[in-house]
Amino acid sequence: MKLNIAVISGDGIGPEIVTEAEKVLERVLEKHGHSITYHDVYMGGCSIDRFGVPLTDEAVSIARSCSAVLMGSIGGDANTSPWYRLPPEKRPEAGLLRIRKELGLFANLRPAYLFPELADSCPLADKNGKARNFDLIIVRELTGGLYFGARHTEEKDGIVTAVDTAVYRDTEIRRIARTAFEAARRRRGKVTSVDKANVLDTSRLWRRVVAETAEEYPDVTLENMLVDNCAMQLVREPEQFDVILTGNMFGDILSDEASMITGSIGMLSSASLNETSFGLYEPSHGSAPDIAGKDLANPIATILSAAMMLRYSFDLQQEADEIERAVRAALSDGYRTADLLPKNPDEAAALHLVRCSEMGSVIAERI
Ligand code: IPM
Ligand code: MG
Repeated sequence: MKLNIAVISGDGIGPEIVTEAEKVLERVLEKHGHSITYHDVYMGGCSIDRFGVPLTDEAVSIARSCSAVLMGSIGGDANTSPWYRLPPEKRPEAGLLRIRKELGLFANLRPAYLFPELADSCPLADKNGKARNFDLIIVRELTGGLYFGARHTEEKDGIVTAVDTAVYRDTEIRRIARTAFEAARRRRGKVTSVDKANVLDTSRLWRRVVAETAEEYPDVTLENMLVDNCAMQLVREPEQFDVILTGNMFGDILSDEASMITGSIGMLSSASLNETSFGLYEPSHGSAPDIAGKDLANPIATILSAAMMLRYSFDLQQEADEIERAVRAALSDGYRTADLLPKNPDEAAALHLVRCSEMGSVIAERI
């Protein structure tokens, strides 16, 4: 198979982690006789520096002409970077929001599971001090809600008012609900739909449409949960979740929380899909400007995102499995980037601390 992918390395640690994902991809694809062509695309701060905008029309059309997009991370330090002195629609994040919208990437899948090798890094322990064992996926609606409703800021009579609007259409809710129910069918058959139906109209509509959609999936159990409760349940008993279905804003917040309980935000991959097999694959974490360029980042989330790309956009299941197995093997052989080292110095001393580039190589060698 010939794979044509667009690559957005982006800002901060983006270029470093993408290089490692490419290393691993090339290894597995070569082994199975496939070839891959990368089309580099600028987005975020690096695009602002070159072209004055966070995403050019040309970048969008290159991405559209490929079968998938692999992305690192975008953005910088909001307190010090000149990018954040620009108006909001010209900042790095606007590029990401635009590409999601333009490519119709409404379904954001963010799996969060505990690697047994990292169980000690999980900040939660059960009542007996034993590590947890959870495996969930957040299905986040990605092109609607509070992120894409009208917004403005105005000053009148000395009072400044800012307004953001949350908008959801039943059609948008139904299609993401279907994604969640389909995912649950392939997993443990449970969907927890998360909303704020005790306050918001968009959430009341959400709940109604999800309940209607559930009738098409009698084999899947549906449960509703308020978002504040969900935030609490995630740290109390993450094992109870299989598929968490939620809107754009709540999904953003809950997915950071879910990733942290796995031990490190550096482990969590994500896929953003449209109605076809086209997708954009990126780690759930950000651009970590504080460690950028130092070869200290954890490339695993990006490597696992590349595995998701093979799975969802190219249906290369075996190749994806091999990447995931190689990640597990590197961890069980004791390789850790700095973020994965246990706090206890004795435990840390028994492991191999590696840099970003070494982690990529160690994983590639295990394929
Ligand atoms: C994410 C990020 C983005 C989001 C930012 C960078 C706009 O936090 O992918 O979760 O809020 O969606
Ligand atoms: Mg986020």
